[in-house]
Amino acid sequence: MSDQQAAAARVAAVYNAASDSYTASPLSFWDRYGTETVRRMRLQLGARVLDLCCGAGASALAAARVVGPSGRVLAVDLSPRLLELAARRAADGGLDNIEFRCADATSAGLLSKSFDAVVCVFGVFFAADTTGFVAEMWRHLAPGGALAITTWGPHLFEPGNSLFWQEVARLRPDLDHAFNPWDDLVTPDALGNVIRSAGIKDVVVTAKRGTQRLLTSDDFWQIVLGTGYRGTVDALTQEQVDALRDAVLGELRRRRVRAVTTNVVYTYATRAT
Ligand SMILES: C[S@@+](CC[C@H](N)C(=O)[O-])C[C@H]1O[C@@H](n2cnc3c(N)ncnc32)[C@H](O)[C@@H]1O
Repeated sequence: MSDQQAAAARVAAVYNAASDSYTASPLSFWDRYGTETVRRMRLQLGARVLDLCCGAGASALAAARVVGPSGRVLAVDLSPRLLELAARRAADGGLDNIEFRCADATSAGLLSKSFDAVVCVFGVFFAADTTGFVAEMWRHLAPGGALAITTWGPHLFEPGNSLFWQEVARLRPDLDHAFNPWDDLVTPDALGNVIRSAGIKDVVVTAKRGTQRLLTSDDFWQIVLGTGYRGTVDALTQEQVDALRDAVLGELRRRRVRAVTTNVVYTYATRAT
């Protein structure tokens, strides 16, 4: 198995597991930011959209609604269970203009210049070669087509995030930040530079503050189970999981935490030729 195949298998396992919690209400941020990414693109009716790393379809479903029956969305992800969830949500929403495909988005083998829009929300940082991945997204765009890449901003899920990693470091130092790729591209400059290094000149980068409200401090554990933290949790013994959950939630309860930070960075670029 190549390094790329091993990384893809790891990602699929993590997000297959996370699918059981992915649409719980403390994770409403997925749909909120997917919808907002699409709203900012101002897609046209009838547009052909490619959604890479689509997860449970947050941005793909939003795009399908905007482009209408004459438009098409191809949504690609590595996690079969999230794709099943996305397909169910599309069917429940009466959307039949989306195709879901299980494939590696960094090498999906699609035709050049065959889409009017390419969307990637919270997915670009998984690629070993982020610049190459962005160049691959750009290759798919027809002249006049739009690219939207959204990533997390700084301080994601704080204060829960620091408590989580602090406790992981105590229980299992070997796992401390071992699966945490979303922290690599959190500033507008870092993301803008990756996009420009892919040869894309005019990029609009917008950082927005965000928070996710929690009904109770314990809601943070739903976020742990329905996001990439799941990869770390599933590498622990049950005893370690219990110790981690008790320590993190105990401290969040003591501080009466009712919200976590979900800052985001939106980027847009249009292909002239
Ligand atoms: C943080 S989730 C975001 C999903 C979705 N865009 C959303 O906003 O809800 C990241 C997703 O990227 C997918 N992913 C990561 N690397 C991938 C790759 N190389 N090819 C396809 N999907 C990938 C994961 O399976 C996961 O569903």
